[in-house]
Amino acid sequence: MRIISHRGASGYAPENTLKAFRLAVEMGSEDFEFDVHQTKDGILVVHHDFDLAHTALRKERIADLTWAELKKINVAKHYKADTAFQHVPRLEEVLDVIGPRAGWLNFEVKNDGNIYPGIEDKVLAFLGSKPGLLEKSVVSSFDNGTLKRFRERSPEVKLAYLGHGLNTVLLLPALKKAKAVGAVNFHLALRIAFKLNVSRIKKAGFRVCVYTVNTKRDALRMKKIGVDGIFTNHPDIMGKWQLKG
Ligand code: G3P
Ligand code: CA
Repeated sequence: MRIISHRGASGYAPENTLKAFRLAVEMGSEDFEFDVHQTKDGILVVHHDFDLAHTALRKERIADLTWAELKKINVAKHYKADTAFQHVPRLEEVLDVIGPRAGWLNFEVKNDGNIYPGIEDKVLAFLGSKPGLLEKSVVSSFDNGTLKRFRERSPEVKLAYLGHGLNTVLLLPALKKAKAVGAVNFHLALRIAFKLNVSRIKKAGFRVCVYTVNTKRDALRMKKIGVDGIFTNHPDIMGKWQLKG
């Protein structure tokens, strides 16, 4: 089972910052997840929310800021244990830190309602810019239109389906949508990661990765029910429980 560091080692450092990614590498992570957005002037950056309210305690949206404006803002303000300045990193800065170590990378493209027109072309160009990067990368999105546009533009890119507010009843239509875009992975919320659901997804031909798993009890249960990977904010402690393999 893959142990995927979620937004870096975000249990110990401000999420999605270079500090969190460096720490994940130091902790031995080889599998990484992060969230991709685009600035007003078209730069790909890594941050969870569309705005800075949670991380920087400011209301601006990434879509309304240029990279020059964004890089001056401290997105560690929310992280009480360590508020030292951290900027929203550019995608390439994150890859410089984790890329050499990475065996598997999940680019979660946040593009609800196509807020970032053209982001699919930019991400695909990025994936094609370094040898071997496309092969070890999976692109996911909660926005099905975004997944469709990725597939239209690239027959090769590996896709992962994510569904907002899924439940057991909505799983079947979600599996159909995932098949329609040619996804290889299905990323499932821990809330509905039960044996029956995981078996259904696997029977439909997908690998299943579950978010976000931060306790030993849940991690061991995921392994038992055949989950292929878990996203965790604590990649160090997960490593100790012989979850790999
Ligand atoms: O990609 C898995 C997981 O990160 C999706 O949820 O809200 O943490 O981006 P979220
Ligand atoms: Ca994410």
